[in-house]
Amino acid sequence: MLKKVCVGFLFAAGVGLAIYGLEARADDLYQAAQQKQALAIYQKMTLDERIGQLLLPSYVLLSNSVSVDSKDCKNAVADGVQVSPAQIIKACGLDQIKKYHIGAVLTGGGPYFNAPTLRHWAALNALAATQHRLGSPLDPVLLTGNDAVHGNMHLQGAVIFPHNIGLGVTHDADLVRHMGQVIGQDSLSSGFNWVYAPTLAVAQDLRWGRTYESFGQQSALVKSLGAAYIEGFQSMQNNRLTGPVATAKHFIGDGATQYGFDEGDDAYSGTFKDFWQANGQGYEGAVAAQAATLMISYSAIDDQHSQNTTRMHFGGKWDILNQFKTTGISGSDGKQYRFSGFSVTDWQGATRAAYFYNLYHPTLSLAEVFAKSMNAGADMFMVAQGDTVNPFDATSPTNYTSIGEVFDALKSAYQDGLISESRLQDAVTRILAVKSLMQPRITQSYDVLQQQERALALRAAHESLVLLQNNHHVLPLKANQMKHVVLVGATDDLGTQNGGWTVNWQGQKGDQYFTGVDQVSSGALTLEQALKLHLPTSQFYHAGDALPKDATAANTVVISVVAEVPYAEYMGDIGNKQAIDEWYQAGGGNGTNAYLGLPQNQSLALQWSASDATAIASFKQQDMPVITIVYSGRPVILSEGGAQAPLVHSDAVVAAFLPGTLGGQALSDVLLGNYRFRSTVTGQSNTLSFPWPNNMSQVADHFSQGAQFPIGYGLAD
Ligand code: BGC
Ligand code: BGC
Repeated sequence: MLKKVCVGFLFAAGVGLAIYGLEARADDLYQAAQQKQALAIYQKMTLDERIGQLLLPSYVLLSNSVSVDSKDCKNAVADGVQVSPAQIIKACGLDQIKKYHIGAVLTGGGPYFNAPTLRHWAALNALAATQHRLGSPLDPVLLTGNDAVHGNMHLQGAVIFPHNIGLGVTHDADLVRHMGQVIGQDSLSSGFNWVYAPTLAVAQDLRWGRTYESFGQQSALVKSLGAAYIEGFQSMQNNRLTGPVATAKHFIGDGATQYGFDEGDDAYSGTFKDFWQANGQGYEGAVAAQAATLMISYSAIDDQHSQNTTRMHFGGKWDILNQFKTTGISGSDGKQYRFSGFSVTDWQGATRAAYFYNLYHPTLSLAEVFAKSMNAGADMFMVAQGDTVNPFDATSPTNYTSIGEVFDALKSAYQDGLISESRLQDAVTRILAVKSLMQPRITQSYDVLQQQERALALRAAHESLVLLQNNHHVLPLKANQMKHVVLVGATDDLGTQNGGWTVNWQGQKGDQYFTGVDQVSSGALTLEQALKLHLPTSQFYHAGDALPKDATAANTVVISVVAEVPYAEYMGDIGNKQAIDEWYQAGGGNGTNAYLGLPQNQSLALQWSASDATAIASFKQQDMPVITIVYSGRPVILSEGGAQAPLVHSDAVVAAFLPGTLGGQALSDVLLGNYRFRSTVTGQSNTLSFPWPNNMSQVADHFSQGAQFPIGYGLAD
């Protein structure tokens, strides 16, 4: 008897395998839970409780309805123990979680607290959960979302890993899987059980400010690393998610927008099959890895020919979102891939889609906006503060100022028949199915965890560096070449090394959030700090300093860093009007990123300043070796600007991308030969996952005429 059951089970699994490969498990899992546990809960819920499941407000939206700029909440949380839980709940507007039966909250990219520590986040998330238990007693868990895109990035002192572009360079799925596990554990420790990662974009145009969130331009690589990350995050055991819920994002075509404009239009008029082939393979991996959630992209597929009807939050073209969620899509390997978790909009996603749509059609009411998005396949709505009717104009009227208004809009959409009962049931039971399979577990002490994270972040940083040039085998450096070390450029800037999405949405310059105990926990060292540590007897100088008489070509090395300033999303676009407008409105002006008060790059060329170039020219005249490190979110142009062009005037060039808190250490290791380029077993680490441009026309025509360095390039030393 027992034997028969087993055979039956194997047979069922076998059928699944035939259709989806290993992928079938995900489908079976969430679908089965939807039909059983989730449906049972749904049937007992009131209408208000069901509507509450659709809501994903930001903490700031909740607390802004109590005080301007969440001031009371920030103060209350900062005061910590001196303030009673009831006071924090009130000051942060958490009672709305109870009142509107909210089933999920998130923190956006913003800083939120002045001192964003593990304790503060954990306390806030725990208090939110108390309100959730009161307002939604049938709901298994409150989802608490963060953007852990390269580590548990909202915490000061967190270990920051290389961004996805660097992970693409590693070509190391095991490493990425392991990273997912530890970052997942870190997120759980701070009370976040849902991570908005990984990004599965195949970035086509390097002008896109989110290029660094993309693993690379080869879909197969995006597929394998994306799947590994998701498996790591969710740490599925016995069909339960023991890590946080992962998010495959942003569905679909976010990396294929024309001119690389963030949130732009793919302007794609080819076939469905080709579109999927180019942009969809990561989602095949996501289904295979049992990704529980899918975040919808701001982008459009073909808006310019379609009167703005192809924004993904309104379903895209070909009803592609609904297709992926219902019938499934025939994948690049001929297998059928169906996503059976739940989908979530991006930040203010539905209303941003409506803005474009309304330009060509009778203006939709708020209820109609949410209904339209929901009917196109959105199951949950990420709603946030400052959502204006015209997203490019901060002074335009807001769509809503409180979560109550969103609740009312969705409820009336249902009551007026704009959302059918079966659609509501499908959305809510998809959400409840995921929740019913969650069994988050913290498995080790935080100290041990951070120790593991540091080790892994160092390994990731090592494998993510690409040696672009190494004339006369100048690298690795020999000890006797290091009596005098001249440092040029951003050698001592941790913020630049980490990039965007580091504590703050846009990141920051300098060592803010990473000093004292936070430096120890994060393992943060700049390149300069790491070199000084490893070369205790060397003398260090900066570009303008006079060198001693005994400094010669044989005992002196010049190490320069050229870098992009930190940025996130459209703030990193090159030539994107939206970004520029927003800087102006925020009072920045003149190409200054107002979030950072820094000049924004308008070109992909990185050069030495005129004075650094002059200094370097004189070192070169004395035959001193010049090593250049590049910190950037994407391949940049290094050959423009005459004497200021690093590629032509450096002996060795290392592309470091955004290597994270252990990046300084990793670089010091490669310079000194303690880690050798391409020394991993596969030999695939330390090789480019994007082509490297020589000039802007190569970027603009997507390398149809060749590249300075092709995909797969990377020297051994
Ligand atoms: C980004 C998402 C992110 C979300 C929440 C959006 O602006 O596009 O990638 O997960 O904000 O921070
Ligand atoms: C938020 C981010 C979000 C962005 C989108 C910021 O204010 O903090 O999470 O991605 O707005 O515009």
